[in-house]
Amino acid sequence: MSITEEAYRVLKMNDRGGYTIPRPKLYPFQWNWDSCFVALGFMTYDEKRAWEELDLLFQGQWSNGMVPHIIFHRESDNYSPGPDVYQVVSATGIPTSGLSQPPIASFCVRRMYEMSSDKEAAKEKVLKLLPRLFAYHKWYHDVRDPMHTGVVSILHPWESGRDNSADWDDALGRVPITNLLHYERKDLKHVAAEQRPRKEDYDRYMSLVQILREHKHDAPGHYLASPFKVGDTTVNFILARADQDLLWLMETLAPDTYESEIMTIKEWLVSSKEAMERFWDEEDGLYHCIDVMNGQRIKSNSSGGFTALLTGWVSPERTEILLEKLRRWKEETGKHVVSFDPYSPRFDPRRYWRGPVWAIVNFLIYEGLVTAGQNKMAKEVAADTYELVKQSLFAEYYNPQTGEGLGGDSFSWTAAMWLYWLKPLADELGFVDEINSELDVAGA
Ligand code: DGY
Repeated sequence: MSITEEAYRVLKMNDRGGYTIPRPKLYPFQWNWDSCFVALGFMTYDEKRAWEELDLLFQGQWSNGMVPHIIFHRESDNYSPGPDVYQVVSATGIPTSGLSQPPIASFCVRRMYEMSSDKEAAKEKVLKLLPRLFAYHKWYHDVRDPMHTGVVSILHPWESGRDNSADWDDALGRVPITNLLHYERKDLKHVAAEQRPRKEDYDRYMSLVQILREHKHDAPGHYLASPFKVGDTTVNFILARADQDLLWLMETLAPDTYESEIMTIKEWLVSSKEAMERFWDEEDGLYHCIDVMNGQRIKSNSSGGFTALLTGWVSPERTEILLEKLRRWKEETGKHVVSFDPYSPRFDPRRYWRGPVWAIVNFLIYEGLVTAGQNKMAKEVAADTYELVKQSLFAEYYNPQTGEGLGGDSFSWTAAMWLYWLKPLADELGFVDEINSELDVAGA
């Protein structure tokens, strides 16, 4: 079976009819940003199915515009915390989580529209999505940045998608765990403990969910009550890029209908661009997260900092500094791009977001590098990701030093990245000779 056939198999296996789960048992529901990346994969061979992925994701949208990070379309005993813990539903009554995730949807929808072969059908889909996408972005800008500072806050590490990044160690350390109710670690039934977040992190994740739940995970109570408010690099820079993509979609497809929304997005962009300066750490030569509780930058070097390139707003001088850091990180670990500073004592090449390489982050950094005109480095990042997939197939994440696949295997978004990004790019650039060779993945 070729790698591409394996990718089709994975997406088929994880398809639950209109939406795709990231991986059976470990993540048995629809996840927000996973689904957006997966839709890009479907787009390469089944456009109708790709749009369905977005339709079902937005069935989870709340009446205040928030798109939750998990949509519990069906029940499953394999995952915790489930709907019984969050106790909230979407505008249409579907149980969901009360948190969101990096708002990558508009970025993907623009790409889906641009690559669609059936432009009329795609336009119809996008026109239906536009008000929903706008409401989602507006929720981030208003509810998660109530003072309109240009920096939106996450209220839980899960909202960054980079759950146990060392970026949160200090801010999460201040979250009280005194009244924590009993909970079960179902993830440890599916993945080895040393590849997952530690108990002390989980206690605080669950405590935060409890605190936010007291306010039904909604504004303004949940924002004020949260002891964890962080301006995450990934969420803020993805939002800045997604705002640009949403603007493009509105101006291209329905400028008259969305005149006032277009003005609003332009205002968001001015304010995000100005605020971006606050994320830059001159001493470390990287964009850092901001602890909104005390206004300080968080001194922690993670791969999230490189997603700044997605905005198109990084100066050539700073781009050079970022490139140098990418080179140094690779020198130390052998592969682009580790999720955490390999020179730090907190680096751990096997533990989730504290070191391993993630294909979708590499894709975002690749896109950022292309945006910055850094095609050579972009190609290197893609080639390393390709090597990892070739060695260990569609893992959730990879040990940069050995190439070992970690976390869940047969992982949907990694398979989607192969179909959408790595395979076509390798075909075009020929950066790997054996790209079309048949690989025996029997028993994978
Ligand atoms: C998990 O449960 O590990 C997820 O990443 C939360 O979204």
